Amino acid sequence: SVEHSLRPKRLSDYIGQEDTVEKLNIFIEAAKNRHEPLDHVLLSGPPGLGKTTLSNIIANEMDVHIKVTSGPAIEKAGDLASILTNLEENDILFIDEIHRIHRVVEETLYPAMEDFALDIIVGKGPSARSIRLDLPKFTLIGATTRAGQLTSPLRDRFGVVLTLQLYDSESLKNIVLRSAKLLNTAIEDGGALEIAKRSRGTPRIANRLLKRVRDYAEVMESGVITEDVAKRGLKMLGIDGYGLDDIDRKIIMAMIQNFGGRPVGIDAIAASINEERITLEDVYEPYLLQIGFINRTSRGRIATKLAYDHFGMAYEEQERFL
Ligand code: ADE
Repeated sequence: SVEHSLRPKRLSDYIGQEDTVEKLNIFIEAAKNRHEPLDHVLLSGPPGLGKTTLSNIIANEMDVHIKVTSGPAIEKAGDLASILTNLEENDILFIDEIHRIHRVVEETLYPAMEDFALDIIVGKGPSARSIRLDLPKFTLIGATTRAGQLTSPLRDRFGVVLTLQLYDSESLKNIVLRSAKLLNTAIEDGGALEIAKRSRGTPRIANRLLKRVRDYAEVMESGVITEDVAKRGLKMLGIDGYGLDDIDRKIIMAMIQNFGGRPVGIDAIAASINEERITLEDVYEPYLLQIGFINRTSRGRIATKLAYDHFGMAYEEQERFL
């Protein structure tokens, strides 16, 4: 698909996440020079930032195969055993949503990660015994939106722990310019920046908005995505100046109206707008924090003056709450 072809294949084509890219360049080169697999890697951060893309890039750079699965998809220890025994030396096993892995499966992972070994119980009752099978050396890449939810025995077995951050507008602008080129779409810097600013710090969203603005530019305008064309296209799509959606608006309005602007806990917000706490924490809160619409205090979240102004609410001095 086009979406797929927009993904960079090499670290040198990867835009943004400079800290992560720099570390990976070093660890990959060192592992290759030693003819060893890369140490196990844990990638964490909000959805859509490129955890899967980075894993595929690592496989390309290491020149090995990658097998892709997810925490909830591995139902039994035997499922994991068959995946592991079918790997080739130095291959990568990518487990998405690794925080959702089942407990018995997780315990099978420990010796696999640590000793490249699989402990299998043979027989039942008093004659049951454990035999140890050797596995090919491999690299586990685990991806999670919630590193805090991993058990410490699992987290501690990753030698490389990388946290992806929401992208700034400059990086997203460069991603949009790169994608536009691959899509053969004429775009100006101002048009790319306008899309970037409304993409919630997330390349997946930026690429989606680019494609819809391209549709708009081709059908309704001359086809070139200028700043003004981007603004009109994004208006048609109902994307506001910060790329906020209905749930963001509900969150802020609940904080202002239901809780009177006082510090409030995430569970209380979730309950009052009938959304999952986890969705709010993983998807909504990081972006509202990044754009400065909410602050975290020791007593809970508060909406900032910026948020009041954006939604046309009167802001009273809130020091008494702090
Ligand atoms: N497409 C999606 N994410 C990207 C990134 N970080 N760099 C380049 N292209 C991308």
